[in-house]
Amino acid sequence: MIKNVAVIGAGTMGHGIAEVVAIAGYSVYLSDVSQEILNNALEKIRWSLGKLYEKGQLKESDKTIIDRIRTTVGITNELKEVDFVIEAVPEKLDLKRQIFSRLEEIVADTTILSTNTSSLPITEIASAVRRQERVVGTHFFNPPVIMQLVEVIRGNRTSDNTLNTAYEFIKTLNKKPILVHKDVPGFVVNRVLLRIITNACMLVEKNIADYRTVDAVARYKLGLPMGIFELVDYTGVDVNYYVSSAMIERGFKAYQCKILEEMTKRGELGVKSGKGFYTYP
Ligand code: CAA
Repeated sequence: MIKNVAVIGAGTMGHGIAEVVAIAGYSVYLSDVSQEILNNALEKIRWSLGKLYEKGQLKESDKTIIDRIRTTVGITNELKEVDFVIEAVPEKLDLKRQIFSRLEEIVADTTILSTNTSSLPITEIASAVRRQERVVGTHFFNPPVIMQLVEVIRGNRTSDNTLNTAYEFIKTLNKKPILVHKDVPGFVVNRVLLRIITNACMLVEKNIADYRTVDAVARYKLGLPMGIFELVDYTGVDVNYYVSSAMIERGFKAYQCKILEEMTKRGELGVKSGKGFYTYP
């Protein structure tokens, strides 16, 4: 029986996931490394809930929902009562492993530990804890409050009980979970999406087409809701760089995109930094 949830990481994905969980009626702890990041996340959640409320898409007031979200700096003892954790920190294996190991010291043995990783094997993250059967992937898409799909991924040691509980929990969030039974790099969605993104990058790097042309093709011919590079800006240039690198390092055959690496180093991270392929006010 899941009542209390924790979301670790209040960035682009974490704050949206905490919002989804609170809308579904659960109490949520949202954790990050500073109160400033958490305040910024709450501001974004307030904006989003306000939008949904105006459109009549919430069953309760936005105020009631946001009151269910409590913030906590770091991974503290406050989290000891939670039944389900969703980790959504940056796509760095060592960081995720440290967090899982710290969580195991605090939460109950029965608490499910899930990761929102887009590309890192669940099994590699799980190996940081003793009870690996309770670790599972729950991969949301940006923006979590609007995107319906969630991949629920079985690591090599995930138990049936953990997988089924995670799947049923995701359904209670009014999302459409799909089960991924093999812990392959990029799971299902990113094995398709990263192929498109890296090919789009190759066209730009080889001067075959500029990024605006590729985006026009995506919107007006392929019928996608955003251009490929608009989507990269939206999900994070750095995220796409880390995800593609992690997948390629683990044997996924794709073009290694240089622009994503260079832009990440320059801090041109897309919407969240105000500049990526496009600029944002
Ligand atoms: N909360 C509440 N409302 C929101 C919102 C949010 N987080 N985000 C957008 N909206 C609202 C907007 O305010 C707007 O409302 P109004 O019409 O009242 O102004 C409405 O939704 C439509 O938004 P936009 O006009 O900005 O643009 P849009 O029609 O293109 O919709 C979108 C935006 C839903 C993001 C759409 O462009 C889309 O589906 N894009 C593709 C997203 C996608 O593919 N995501 C997955 C990426 S992969 C990933 O996340 C994981 C990974 O592993 C890297």
